[in-house]
Amino acid sequence: EKGGWSSFMAKEISEEPEAVAKTLLGRLVDHKVRLPELDSLGEGTLENIDRIVIVACGTAAYAGMLGKYAIEKWSRIPVDVELAHEFRYRDPILTERTLVVSISQSGETMDTLLAVRHALEQGAKTLSICNTQGATIPRDSHAVLYTHAGPEVAVASTKAFVAQITALYLLGLRIGEARGTLSAEQIAENAAELLAIPEKIDEVLVASQSIGQLAHWMTDTQSVLFLGRNVGFPVALEGALKLKELAYIHAEGFAAGELKHGPIALIEPGQVVFVIVPSPRDPNSLHPKVVSNIQEIRARGARVIAIAEKGDAAVLPFADEVIPIPLAGSLFEPLLAVVPLHIFGMELAAAKGLDVDQPRNLAKSVTVE
Ligand code: F6R
Repeated sequence: EKGGWSSFMAKEISEEPEAVAKTLLGRLVDHKVRLPELDSLGEGTLENIDRIVIVACGTAAYAGMLGKYAIEKWSRIPVDVELAHEFRYRDPILTERTLVVSISQSGETMDTLLAVRHALEQGAKTLSICNTQGATIPRDSHAVLYTHAGPEVAVASTKAFVAQITALYLLGLRIGEARGTLSAEQIAENAAELLAIPEKIDEVLVASQSIGQLAHWMTDTQSVLFLGRNVGFPVALEGALKLKELAYIHAEGFAAGELKHGPIALIEPGQVVFVIVPSPRDPNSLHPKVVSNIQEIRARGARVIAIAEKGDAAVLPFADEVIPIPLAGSLFEPLLAVVPLHIFGMELAAAKGLDVDQPRNLAKSVTVE
């Protein structure tokens, strides 16, 4: 039931804090990662794998890209992320030391299921990250790590996305723990970051209340671009996908560093560009690079909407609008930065009078190839 909400999507976005909290529940205890459900992968699997392949479609694949950043950083195992439908048909290299992690909210996506079955035939280990108890993909996999976002009714995925990222980060910490690539202190630090996320998303929900107005003046907009770097890149892709599917607007997400390699030619006066700005405290020092990207597009007339850390004074002179997010470690910023983009997609669709929960031509679970 929708309760008092105008749409299931509005309700589900409001449940993003809870989706993260419930996915963490009972899994971070005494600074240790408890994921007994991984035991069915077989003893020694986490220590012995030499490669991870994440397979998924759509939004779930963007969660997978974020999983790659975290898992590689924490466990030093190479991670590839592939769209399930591309993976399946190119005879991918898989061995018994490959862990194939599928991500699917519904657990029924045919493309993802076929990728998992192919991995099983090749002798790889398979782990399903899934939001639906007893669905086909988890049943066919060696192990399942459930996300606990609760049932998602709106066709566009929102709360399941943040829950998927949470589950992937737990997996990354667990593998880092098993392989000794993370110290107990590092695990405790990252666990604390994760546990703080639900409250921070609550703050973002409050700070995002002005997005409705922003959407209102954009109902005639023909094209919106999204720029992000590092973990901001999958967030940009997610923001663009939501606009396409909900508001039927041409939208594209780019890696900000790619701008000068082509996409900057698209910038003309009035072009709306969302920019996901890394924290000025970012250890990779990406902040000045993204700020200079903003200056470049602003000089060509772009309307810049920046999603930036609260108190980031460097973006203020160059952005038409700033949506502030609370301070968090770099890897954790996507869990906050994506929330205003989910809201924006929904608000723009609503402002255009479209059905937010049931966009045209789409189904909640895609059970055909
Ligand atoms: C986008 C969206 C889709 C799904 C994709 C995978 O908002 O909902 O891109 O993420 O179809 O679906 P699942 O996760 O059920 O496999």
